[in-house]
Amino acid sequence: MTMKMTGKPKILTIFGTRPEAIKLFPVVQALSSRKNFETLTCVTAQHRQMLDQVLQIADIRPDYDLDLMKANQSLDDLTARLLSGIGKILDKTMPQRVIVQGDTATAMCGALSAYYRQIPVSHVEAGLRSYNIYHPWPEEVNRKIIGTIADQHFAPTEASADALRKENIPAEQIYVTGNTVIDALLITANKPDQSDLANILSPLYKKFSGRKIIGVTSHRRENLGDGLTNIASALRILAMRDDVALIFPVHLNPKVRTIMHDALGDLDNVAMIEPLDYPNFVSLLKHCHFMMTDSGGVQEEAPALGKPVLVMRDTTERPEGVAAGTAKLVGTDKDVLLSEAIRLLDEEDHYLAMARAHNPFGDGTASRQIADIIEQSLAS
Ligand code: UD1
Ligand code: UDP
Repeated sequence: MTMKMTGKPKILTIFGTRPEAIKLFPVVQALSSRKNFETLTCVTAQHRQMLDQVLQIADIRPDYDLDLMKANQSLDDLTARLLSGIGKILDKTMPQRVIVQGDTATAMCGALSAYYRQIPVSHVEAGLRSYNIYHPWPEEVNRKIIGTIADQHFAPTEASADALRKENIPAEQIYVTGNTVIDALLITANKPDQSDLANILSPLYKKFSGRKIIGVTSHRRENLGDGLTNIASALRILAMRDDVALIFPVHLNPKVRTIMHDALGDLDNVAMIEPLDYPNFVSLLKHCHFMMTDSGGVQEEAPALGKPVLVMRDTTERPEGVAAGTAKLVGTDKDVLLSEAIRLLDEEDHYLAMARAHNPFGDGTASRQIADIIEQSLAS
């Protein structure tokens, strides 16, 4: 661990999982270009390998790395370790402001640790609500806790800003910036292909040429058990079609891997692969016919690229993709999943109606706006 000593105010960005890293690397880059404060990063490594994939691509070398992931970590043990680990870093650095993103345990504990020291908190991706505390679980409550603590709320859309206003968050603390995932997506999609693309995905695109590729991701804690089993059963039947191939980068959660490998591991036209680094995943988003996912971030990225997305969840705190017509909530019932996927494969009009590029989540300038607002707030 290194501590920079410049005498300037310090802004500490705390993150720990893959999606937080993807959505915060553009923010860290934007903050780092500002001269009147010092930008520090603390990673909890709630995720290890999947976090490191993003740190490497984004060339972020964290100032502090708590390295606290454990296999099969429980929510209470993870939360306890996060709180005490982050607390120590805050005591050491005493930043003027802490930035957290989204709704993970890391984000919630980052905000709570800062609050315990009366350090103001900026919340990136504020105001998303499903109004069901068990879907997504535990993220709905994490996000509300952070919203209670933060004094700068960066809402991706007007709808998320509205949700915050309804909770009596002062209007002057709410900023509609768009979602920083669009910044990350545009930065990555506009880069020339990286050499790894050739190694991982190109052979699969070749192997599956002539088939429609369905990209799949699934990891949600509330889907562990019946939800994932149903999803796996539907995918297995879908994969029997000779015009279809599935590319499925499997989350490193051992519970997810066991269910998916047991159910799908023997199928030749299902590529169960390791988690892809972000440029590779963006390539999959571009190449696939459509996505089937329970991920939050993919619901935001797929509409931007005009890729239909079947959302394998009962509720979503991101209704904008559904309203735009690119995303459809299909739950985790095997028969519903199957029939919705078959409609996208066989009904061209239905496919074309969904496959239109919409960008309800921002224009790629969110990170710059966030850096501007933070810089101005330090000056005042
Ligand atoms: C976490 C977040 C969830 C987010 C998701 C993104 C919480 C409570 N959940 O869920 O909001 O949508 O990340 O993926 O914060 N593992 C590895 N290597 C990794 C990552 C995970 O081995 O790089 C394994 C470990 O065994 C770990 C398990 O996956 O214990 C679960 O990770 P954890 O962060 O606790 O939960 P996720 O379900 O990934
Ligand atoms: N992603 C990735 N590689 C993969 C799968 C997903 O880079 O193999 C990216 C994806 O583009 C999105 C983010 O990871 O930006 C979503 O992360 P995840 O599904 O783990 O979490 P969630 O969005 O559900 O919180």
